Amino acid sequence: MSAGEWETTADLVVVGSGVAGLTAALAAQRRGLRVVVVTKDAPDAGSTRWAQGGIAVVLGDAVSQEGNDSVDAHLTDTLAAGGGLVDAGAAAEILAAGPAAVAALRAEGAVFDGPAARLARTREGGHSALRVVHAGGDATGAEVERALLAAGDRAGLTVLAGHAASSVLTGPDGTVRGLEVRDADGRAGWLAAPAVLLATGGVGGLYETTTNPDVATADGWALALRAGAALADVEFVQFHPTALYTPRAHGRAPLVTEALRGEGAVLRDTTGASVTAGVHPLGDLAPRDVVATAITRRITALGVDHVWLDATGVPDVAARFPTVAASCAAIGVDLARDPVPVRPAAHYSCGGVVTDTHGRTGVPGLWAAGEVARTGLHGANRLASNSLLEGLVVGRRAADDVARALAGPRRLAEPTETRARPVPVADRAVLRAALTRSAGIGRDAAGLAAASDAVEAASTLRLPVTRAETEDAALTLAAHALLAAAGSRTETRGCHVRTDHPATDEHWQRASSTVALDADGRLHVGTTDARHGGAA
Ligand code: SIN
Repeated sequence: MSAGEWETTADLVVVGSGVAGLTAALAAQRRGLRVVVVTKDAPDAGSTRWAQGGIAVVLGDAVSQEGNDSVDAHLTDTLAAGGGLVDAGAAAEILAAGPAAVAALRAEGAVFDGPAARLARTREGGHSALRVVHAGGDATGAEVERALLAAGDRAGLTVLAGHAASSVLTGPDGTVRGLEVRDADGRAGWLAAPAVLLATGGVGGLYETTTNPDVATADGWALALRAGAALADVEFVQFHPTALYTPRAHGRAPLVTEALRGEGAVLRDTTGASVTAGVHPLGDLAPRDVVATAITRRITALGVDHVWLDATGVPDVAARFPTVAASCAAIGVDLARDPVPVRPAAHYSCGGVVTDTHGRTGVPGLWAAGEVARTGLHGANRLASNSLLEGLVVGRRAADDVARALAGPRRLAEPTETRARPVPVADRAVLRAALTRSAGIGRDAAGLAAASDAVEAASTLRLPVTRAETEDAALTLAAHALLAAAGSRTETRGCHVRTDHPATDEHWQRASSTVALDADGRLHVGTTDARHGGAA
């Protein structure tokens, strides 16, 4: 590419302004680095603000409150939920760092429910103890985002809003040299920096119905692949069991937090029968993949559109869950009196850009943290409310790692002058229809291949300039990555349910799928030991 229409320099460019990006940016700035945060929309437009349930963490006061919780128990639950693919070493490190990360967030001004000395806790699917701290009842993400943005303001953090990252710039040796961005009119800017951190969030935009906001268009997967980094475990897209069902609605579906079930709400099908009885010993509080699959099977068996979540027995339910109550009220449902129509929707990517627990990718100078990354914490199915925790922990660790990496002598080299190449850009409506049909809960080889063909047929070669084109190009590459990984895993595990391979296969017990892009733009799918995920 040629130099942008404007240029600036930084030590660290953070792409994304959610929990991981802001945590990293604040920590790096406090370590004396010159940091620029780039975000394609408003700073609070990402997924963090929509997180409801809370943060899973074993705080010091948990022992006195619960008498039986521990980081080891949290690890055991994480491993059990993850379907045999969690990297136990990485998970142990991240979970053990959780209490300090939450303390640091509270020091930034985040306020959680309950007395400060003994926060209130709830439970979600797959947790053996009440360890999910929450804010504003069910508005935890909104409070996290508010607190981090306010801390950024106080710290004078530079946030470049309305600029979409179009390319991670690398030198001839493959090391990172900066980031190219484009504003709303497609004008290019160039941030020269020896370190770039991707914290771009998720991939819900690959599907017609998702709990994610519109900005979740897999941008980080595409940026990382094109910079030479690998993805792993991307077939494991987690569907949240209970998104609010509204007939004919597409796009963002309001979340109906799992914490409602933690407080006593129950799932029933349209005949009034329990959805999870006999499916799992934890019933409605089974891990998320189990509940989402059970609901999908029941919906299919009965030929209906949704099941019911009955929260009428939860004490003071509208006050405890004001966000859910408001979403329900908007479709004429009274959470305190009526059952709520729910069905699964695309929610979270358990896989992503391969990193270690410091966010380091295989590309020198490139870090990734939060949902975009794959540290090994989530395996084949993320344990509820481990995601905000991972963003806090790995965001901070990545900042420390960048500071360490930049501490030695360095020189800021110019990025290579390369000519940007046209890439396949699909019509996102066609792409979403194909993935919704063939890559949701229940996939098979024929459907995955047909979806890949449909995405290819809907693609043209283009040089993306506008934000919409850049997003479409990212969705296109991400769709092919996901479909290829899902096609390669010939078994059912966690969120990856293959109807043509319904059993879990020991052969895949420790194997992570990996996806990489070669210099000619071709995707390559392989496997690696899940404990390492191909990390640097
Ligand atoms: C929820 O509140 O049910 C979602 C929390 C999460 O995705 O971890």
